[in-house]
Amino acid sequence: MIKILGICGSPRRRSAYTALEEALKGAKNSGEQVETELVELRARKINLCIHCNQCLKKQSDRCTVFQDDMTELYDKFYEADGIIIASPVYEMNVTAQTAVFMDRFRSAWLKGIQEPEFFTRKVGAGITVGGTRNGGQEMTMNAINNFFLTQGMTLCSGGNGMYTGAMLWNPGDGTTRMDDPEGMENAGILGKKVAIMARIMKEANLWNL
Ligand SMILES: Cc1cc2nc3c(=O)[nH]c(=O)nc-3n(C[C@H](O)[C@H](O)[C@H](O)COP(=O)(O)O)c2cc1C
Repeated sequence: MIKILGICGSPRRRSAYTALEEALKGAKNSGEQVETELVELRARKINLCIHCNQCLKKQSDRCTVFQDDMTELYDKFYEADGIIIASPVYEMNVTAQTAVFMDRFRSAWLKGIQEPEFFTRKVGAGITVGGTRNGGQEMTMNAINNFFLTQGMTLCSGGNGMYTGAMLWNPGDGTTRMDDPEGMENAGILGKKVAIMARIMKEANLWNL
């Protein structure tokens, strides 16, 4: 059984959420044995990383200072075989919710050194949604991809013509849930690929890493 975790960094249940749902549907339809979960960061209490380095000093794979909603999210992240992070584009970057979540993984640094194959086996992919056609989706995707790479995870690209993740455009004032059929199709393909890659990486022989 492959576990695919979707993290939605939007403060609303609107376009990024809809695209992420589509990706998880794609994962379910991949032909793999897949369990999916969609977690919304909105309304969760996640403190800012304060660079106290207590997680590193105590050799903990999670923050030892704040007891907040990250406690549960560390477990979900570490148990998942594939992780898809979806963020709206805010000022050509990820939302604050997404950034705060990613920053709290300083604690994963030691884990990655001590047990490299733990993260190498995990597959990561991003979904970005902007309100304009070329509004910074690629830059936002870079932030998500670089987060996965920092953990030593394996990146999953998109389908044909999708160089990296799924990048969508939801034009207008953002009141519609999603108005980008091509982008939605790409999100579905991305989810499928993440599930297939996650199964392959789970079974891969990484003995000499
Ligand atoms: C503070 C803020 C900044 C934004 N910055 C951008 C931007 O730089 N580029 C862009 O294309 N859209 C931008 N948007 C529009 C959102 O990315 C767009 O409406 C998106 O679909 C929202 O996702 P959601 O429906 O999941 O909330 C911004 C919206 C907000 C509220």
